[in-house]
Amino acid sequence: MHRLTAFVLIVLLLATTVAACVPVTPPAAPAAPEAAPAQPLIMGTESTFPPYEFRNEQNEIVGFDVDLANAIAQKLGRELKIEDMAFDALIPALLAGKIDMIVAGMTITEERKKKVAFSDPYYETGLVWVVRADDDRIQTADDLKGKTLSTQTGTTSDIQASKIEGVNMKRFQQFTDAFLEVAAGRADACIVNEPTAIDYVMKHPELKIGGKLQFEGTDRQFNGIAVRLEDTQLLADINKALQELKDSGEYDKMVEKWFGAIRQQQQQQ
Ligand code: ARG
Repeated sequence: MHRLTAFVLIVLLLATTVAACVPVTPPAAPAAPEAAPAQPLIMGTESTFPPYEFRNEQNEIVGFDVDLANAIAQKLGRELKIEDMAFDALIPALLAGKIDMIVAGMTITEERKKKVAFSDPYYETGLVWVVRADDDRIQTADDLKGKTLSTQTGTTSDIQASKIEGVNMKRFQQFTDAFLEVAAGRADACIVNEPTAIDYVMKHPELKIGGKLQFEGTDRQFNGIAVRLEDTQLLADINKALQELKDSGEYDKMVEKWFGAIRQQQQQQ
């Protein structure tokens, strides 16, 4: 009898101990996907391309592309992160999944469209050549033949300039170095997109714009945001955000802020 009582007591004791260990409420269910914090949206760029992207005195990357990408990220409910790298590293980085989109004043071309998908065009851009202010030797695109030309590696400027007969190409990772090469007399002309050329020349009177260069038979070129070919949802979201920014007038404000002075200069040419 005593043994039985003791046994019952032990069983009861164990039962209560076990019960005490069992959590009263079931473990919280994993958070619903909507509640999870959104992944940051990673933009890849190359920061020597004003007014699209450049470093200010505080060494922050600012510019039209940064404002545009921030506004898009905000609409997508994601935080924008910026990865600065060499221009010719952007498409490989995108394809390797290191960045989500390229916002780098990148021109939409048929060749690039084989590797990446572009958003609707967000700005128009063309190519020009920049020479020293006192140099009048290069009057037409024909005069570029056989000259020493500087530019940024892997850009449409590089592609186009490299096709000119007899040229000696000097390619740089940074556009600033390509301009310096001309200013220093080590290159005859720098091939670059017109808005960046105007921006640079306005701040560096030792240089001037020589003239316009055609790109592969098209006289109109446009910038687009590039994403991976398979990221169709992201592309649709970006295009929707772009359209909303255009409709609301925010896009126009950004254009005025970053291209206002440049456009005025363009009209005077
Ligand atoms: N528009 C030219 C291209 O697509 C040059 C772009 C350079 N952009 C830059 N962020 N450095 O090739």
